[in-house]
Amino acid sequence: MDLINTLLNWVAPPATLVMMACSWPALYFINTCEWLYKVFFSTENMEDKVVIITGASSGIGEQIAYEYARRRANLVLVARREHRLRGISEKARYVGAKHVLIMAADVVKEDDCRKFVYETVNHFGRVDHLVNTASLGHTFFMEEVTDTSIFPHLLDINFWGNVYPTFVALPYLHQSNGRVIVNAAVESWLPLPRMSLYAAAKAALVNFYESLRFELNDEIGITIATHGWIGSEMSRGKFMLEDGLEMQWREERELDVSGGPVEDYAKMIVAGACRGYQYVKYPSWYDIFLLYRFFAPGVLNWTFRMLLASNGTRRTSMVGTGSRPLPLLEGTPPRKHITSPMSYSPRSPQQLQFKQE
Ligand SMILES: NC(=O)c1ccc[n+]([C@@H]2O[C@H](COP(=O)([O-])OP(=O)(O)OC[C@H]3O[C@@H](n4cnc5c(N)ncnc54)[C@H](OP(=O)(O)O)[C@@H]3O)[C@@H](O)[C@H]2O)c1
Repeated sequence: MDLINTLLNWVAPPATLVMMACSWPALYFINTCEWLYKVFFSTENMEDKVVIITGASSGIGEQIAYEYARRRANLVLVARREHRLRGISEKARYVGAKHVLIMAADVVKEDDCRKFVYETVNHFGRVDHLVNTASLGHTFFMEEVTDTSIFPHLLDINFWGNVYPTFVALPYLHQSNGRVIVNAAVESWLPLPRMSLYAAAKAALVNFYESLRFELNDEIGITIATHGWIGSEMSRGKFMLEDGLEMQWREERELDVSGGPVEDYAKMIVAGACRGYQYVKYPSWYDIFLLYRFFAPGVLNWTFRMLLASNGTRRTSMVGTGSRPLPLLEGTPPRKHITSPMSYSPRSPQQLQFKQE
């Protein structure tokens, strides 16, 4: 066995490189033809189709709702802040959505997910697209953490908050030969400082959906969107654990992250999903970081170190949580004076409410 592995260690990498170099022109030609076919001949008509969007109360999810609305789809908007969904559903109907249901639900709770998927099927009789955008971001150095109670929440929302709705919707997506749209992030393969748990959850998410893609055998499409910083509540440093319990984190970033246009990005995701793309990337030049990651990981390491060093002392990014705002801590040395960026008091489980608009 050892002999076989030793032999493959020597033979497999160069043989693969030679094989890929030879077949690359043919593969490139086939991919281009497939892409042209999808762009010009196979765009899915969303009129009267049914789209569930989780995390529809702000940012990318909200803009995705308007994009599907312009394609005259029926929408089911899901998030915890019902008051925000109400306004968004009105605007969605105004721009062209046929019917809109709003559902206050927590995607981390399997029962909530069952209820909004079943309610959708009861009402519309089908599910065509499931768009997962519910998410929770963070910016803190691991070493500064003094209270770990937020850790499971970050993984729950960013990972299980995608898995549960997908799991529950799969049988209905099978019936409609539907599609799941996943909002991952560039951090899934380019881990950035101060986003360790977010990056870990997004990497797990991508691997989950790549495995599922093999299992589903093209009967249900999967579009994975990876993007850099886009203007939204999240990129402005606003995160929320539960309804009415906000955590505002002031961004003291090493990089300027003013964000890109959310509307354009949402348009790109929906167009990609309707054309059956497996991946949507924005901006696509980020792919070059993959090369650095595989062939020159030291360069990324030096860059991050230089960026952190040029910023002087570390800063926390936390301003306060919920109704008990904590004092702003800036420019403090690590650990010493830093209160955890994650104090909060969980509320009782929220009631599910289904409303037709
Ligand atoms: N913005 C960026 O720069 C950026 C970059 C890369 C990737 N992404 C990804 O793109 C997606 C959307 O990001 P965004 O910037 O639009 O974020 P956002 O504005 O913060 O929106 C997050 C959404 O998730 C919902 N949500 C959070 N926890 C939930 C829960 N437990 N149950 C139900 N809904 C929940 C929120 O609604 P409620 O609070 O009302 O529940 C909100 O609608 C996320 O997957 C994010 O990771 C964003």
